[in-house]
Amino acid sequence: MTYLWLKAGHVIFVIFWMAGLFMLPRYFVYHQEAAPGSPEAALWIDREGKLLKIILWPSLVVVWVLGLALAMSQGFFAQGWFHAKLALVLGLSAYHVWLAGYARALARGERRLTGRHLRMLNEVPGIAAALIVVLVIVKPF
Ligand code: HEM
Repeated sequence: MTYLWLKAGHVIFVIFWMAGLFMLPRYFVYHQEAAPGSPEAALWIDREGKLLKIILWPSLVVVWVLGLALAMSQGFFAQGWFHAKLALVLGLSAYHVWLAGYARALARGERRLTGRHLRMLNEVPGIAAALIVVLVIVKPF
């Protein structure tokens, strides 16, 4: 029973985390259309900071803590599907950290990527999430 409650909590925070990962690069696209130092750019800096602080960072921590607790309680560390899932979630976490760095660079007025590249990058969490869900539900190996 406790296991199922932990799993429910895990999936709820996965949804929050993924929502944030999809939203932030969208914000970047709109932010980059505003001139550096303009009042509109300041608004986007504020929105990005809030999204990271209120949604993204807390969700990352809760997803990891609950996911590792689930894995330890069932001994999933010895199973192939779990290794593949871990590799993908490490990749998603690295993407998260990179996005946080991009937000700081944008706040300094740097525009490292074009809007088109940011939109293409937004496919990353969708593909990773689809693979993770297949691994965790089908457990193919
Ligand atoms: C961040 C590190 C993560 C760890 C350590 C982790 C670990 C786990 C574990 C051990 C389970 C229980 C599997 C079972 O009971 O069969 C689970 C369930 C689940 N995880 Fe994760 N997970 C993580 C992140 C994610 C992410 C990023 C997603 C989706 C994008 C995700 C989606 C799910 C889903 C949908 C389930 C429920 C599967 C089911 O009950 O059939 N997890 N996770």
